[in-house]
Parts: sequence; C-alpha cells; structure tokens
Amino acid sequence: NKIPVIAIDGPSASGKGTVAQLVARKLGFHYLDSGALYRLVALKTMQLNTDTQNPIAVAEIAIHLNVFFKDEHIYLDDTIVTNAIRTEQCGIVASQLAAYPQVRAALTERQRAFRQLPGLVTDGRDMGSVIFPDAVLKIYLTASAEVRAQRRYKQLIEKGMNANIADLLQDIQKRDERDSSRSIAPLQQGVDAKLLDTTSLTISQAQDAVLSWYNDML
Ligand code: C5P
Repeated sequence: NKIPVIAIDGPSASGKGTVAQLVARKLGFHYLDSGALYRLVALKTMQLNTDTQNPIAVAEIAIHLNVFFKDEHIYLDDTIVTNAIRTEQCGIVASQLAAYPQVRAALTERQRAFRQLPGLVTDGRDMGSVIFPDAVLKIYLTASAEVRAQRRYKQLIEKGMNANIADLLQDIQKRDERDSSRSIAPLQQGVDAKLLDTTSLTISQAQDAVLSWYNDML
C-alpha cells in the first residue's frame, strides 16, 4: 500500500490528538482518532446496558457500530456524541474494553479503511505497531503525567464540563498502567518509533517536529 500513513501513538491526554489533527490539516491528509472508536464502543455498551465483562457481546457491538465522522463531529446512530464520548467515565470503560482481543479485532478493518489518498494521520495506542505497521512515520508522543492531567483539565473546562486535577491525574495513571500492561497491543514505544516528549513543548512546536520528520522521509 503506497498511501502514506503517519502514526502517532502515546498515552492518554498527551496531546497526540491535537497534534495529529493539525498535521493532517497542514498536509491535507485524512485523520483518524482511533481512541474515539473505543470510546464509541464504550458509550454504546453503556447505552445498551451490555455487560462490560462479556468480550463477545462487546465485540458484537463493535462490529455493528453505526458511526459517521463529519467535519469536527462524530455521529453514533445519527446522534452527535462528540462531547459525550469525552467523559472520564467513557475513557475508563473504553480502556477496559480495549483489552479484549475480540474487540480489537472487530475494529481493525474499520481503522484500515481510513487509509485513503492523499494520506492519513492517525493517533492511538497501536497505530504504528498493529494497525499500520508499514506507516512511513511512527511517533511515540508523550508528556509527564502531571502535564497531561493539566492539559486534560483545560480541555474539559473549555468544553464546559466538570473536572478536578487530582482525580484526573489518578485516572491518567490508572489508565497508563492498564494500557501498558495488557497483553494485547500494549501501549509502548516501538523500536521504529521516534520519541516526541512534549512536556515542555507548545502545540505548534510539537506539530513542527512531526512535519519536519515527515519532510525528511520524502
Ligand atoms: O486516546 P483515548 O484516550 O481517547 O482512548 C481511549 C482508550 O481507548 C484508551 O485508554 C485505550 O485503552 C483505548 N485505545 C486503544 N487503542 C487505540 C486507541 C485507544 O486501546 N489505538
């Protein structure tokens, strides 16, 4: 497959989504927020009151997920859920369901379908390692847990949602632990991924770093 993919993986609230979107816009590429898919499965599972401990039932939901991305918005069964999937609750459940191999398998082809001309920028946990192993550029984007908690706090407040820094920091650490220790597609920096630590970088500096690496590849 000759369609270029830039894969940006990293822990939650690292700012990888913001950076990936900006890079996609700059290059005129498509953008896939893979975490949103896991969050959508979580939301639907909660809506249907499906047992989150049942991998087969949750995978069934993932297979039939009726989702549509348009501009900045995400539709689930024709309802806008752009903000609804951003709650901490949704993130926590998403991370539980993401540990099931059946759920990951159910979402694999759906993610690969986003690879379309002229190219794709995507972010998640296993974009470079599992979904797009032939990505032209793989980046592991991270920041200290404290800085990530602050960024998530700002993001939630800007959306008019409630947030508490200490709780966010605890959630982030718990989620890092779960995402890094699971046996399938764990969160880790691949040997072929470039490290981008954004603890003391602005968004625009992070964006420039990605773009300059990409230009070096051409
Ligand atoms: O990136 P975000 O925080 O929105 O992702 C929510 C959860 O979905 C993560 O904590 C992770 O467990 C899961 N996820 C994943 N693989 C991806 C993207 C997200 O396992 N590629």
